[in-house]
Amino acid sequence: MSSRSLPIALIFVSFLGITQCARILGVFPFPVKSHYILGNALMRGLAEAGHDVTMISPFEDTGTLSRGTYSNIVLTGFSERYEEILKHFDLLNDPRRPISAQIMFQHIQLMTSNATLGHPNVIPFLNSGEKFDAVIVEQFVNEAVKVFAYHFQAPLILFCSVGPNNWINSAVGNPSPLSYIPYLMDYPIIKSFTHRVVNTLIYIAYQLMNYFYVFPKNEDILRYHFADPPNFYELYHNASLALLNSHGSISQAVPLVPTMKEIGGFHVKPPKKLPKDLQDYLDNAKDGVVYFSLGSSLRSKDLPLKKLEALLRSFGKLKQKVLWKWEEDILPGQPANVKLGKWFPQQDILAHPNVILFVTQGGLLSNTESVYHGVPMLVIPVYGDQHHNARLAMKYEYSLTLPYKDPEFSEEKISYLLNELLHNPKYSENVKRISRLFHDRPLSPMEEAVYWVEYVIRHKGALHLRVAGVDLPWYRYFLLDVILFLAVTAVLSIFLLYLGLRYSFVRRRQSQNEKMKKN
Ligand SMILES: *[C@@H]1O[C@H](CO)[C@@H](O)[C@H](O)[C@H]1NC(C)=O
Ligand SMILES: *[C@@H]1O[C@H](CO)[C@@H](O)[C@H](O)[C@H]1NC(C)=O
Repeated sequence: MSSRSLPIALIFVSFLGITQCARILGVFPFPVKSHYILGNALMRGLAEAGHDVTMISPFEDTGTLSRGTYSNIVLTGFSERYEEILKHFDLLNDPRRPISAQIMFQHIQLMTSNATLGHPNVIPFLNSGEKFDAVIVEQFVNEAVKVFAYHFQAPLILFCSVGPNNWINSAVGNPSPLSYIPYLMDYPIIKSFTHRVVNTLIYIAYQLMNYFYVFPKNEDILRYHFADPPNFYELYHNASLALLNSHGSISQAVPLVPTMKEIGGFHVKPPKKLPKDLQDYLDNAKDGVVYFSLGSSLRSKDLPLKKLEALLRSFGKLKQKVLWKWEEDILPGQPANVKLGKWFPQQDILAHPNVILFVTQGGLLSNTESVYHGVPMLVIPVYGDQHHNARLAMKYEYSLTLPYKDPEFSEEKISYLLNELLHNPKYSENVKRISRLFHDRPLSPMEEAVYWVEYVIRHKGALHLRVAGVDLPWYRYFLLDVILFLAVTAVLSIFLLYLGLRYSFVRRRQSQNEKMKKN
């Protein structure tokens, strides 16, 4: 190659570097549909941007793509095993025992990580010698699976299905002061001294659990599956980027380090045409439509009779039509204004202008979709982050809440809430205002996600985005060594001053006594 053609070749190579199709691995082992829907939407978005993606997940995507490729590595058997575990769910969500619920969840997720790395479909893949340009892992207390990035020597990108929380914050070194940010999402908004004490104690308990239980177990898992495992703490803190399924318009404003990017709303697709019968039904609803779905967290047949009757009677009294997601063939006592469906295209329904209220459990997806389309909500939170989402939506006054376990889950209460939401215009006005904030961004959330993933690939991990705090031991991070040094210095100085004063005082007394004796 002549020296003249070298720069041209370099330009060509760097040009290729920008547009080249990348190979991206997604690791989303958590066997719950809403998590998969998010992971799948992200990986599909990357494929549609022209990349070749591989997805490790308990579910399979056999759909078509306009660009790129999508290969599945299916974690068979995961969903079935998780069904078994779900039977102990009440213990998991007992708000009176937050620490034992956390330990139990950590335990389940350790099993999930271990089973992922040992899965018969994963082992041959690990040994296949394939190459990847980036590895995206869902950050969901499954630290050991970050090893895929190490194994393929590719930058690690984390995806968080909620906004910034303690898991992602500690992985990327994001400051999250305990003075105003709840350590666990379920904890209420921090206001009083007691809140701060409890928040700090929860933090300490959590750190102890991590250092004495969770992290050593993760190390065991890595040692079990790899002859030469990476250092766990390095792996834990090695992320180049964290994509958050959140947006400042619908959560508390908090600090975000440069590796954190909010892409909440990325999974929402432009509205598609509805099936004809549904389209006619919605078009002809002159008083509006209430859409009711408890998502995938609670099956209709598991709804206790008392709660079901309370819902039936309060919906039956409305002049609005009600679309009810009901997975059974019949609904005993179905009111005339209620239409059932085993499955509904939720996003497209919420996009219809006649849909004026969404009754939902307020999960990961529903809350975002409701804000996206500007529909107020009645939230019936069942577990986990749903209570947290419900609280924020209430704070911004675009929803009302009736916890599923509320002893006052009655016809009167539901009717009262429905009437308030349907007749007080403030809920609809607020959600439409927040929806405008939610949409007002320089890039669409999916474009932003694709941009940052490509950015990390282009810049070989983009390590300049990482804050130094992520590598500091905790006593240095909290300046405990400095505080100790200053405290010791201050105590010593006071002590020396005291000794000095005492000495001069004694001397003065002695000389006075001597003078008195002489006289
Ligand atoms: C991981 O799974 C293997 C079996 O596949 C088991 O022998 C090992 O004890 C598990 N490790 C942990 C930490 O649970
Ligand atoms: C951390 O990331 C770098 C660059 O992406 C990689 O070379 C290194 O092996 C990773 N270390 C661990 C422990 O994952």
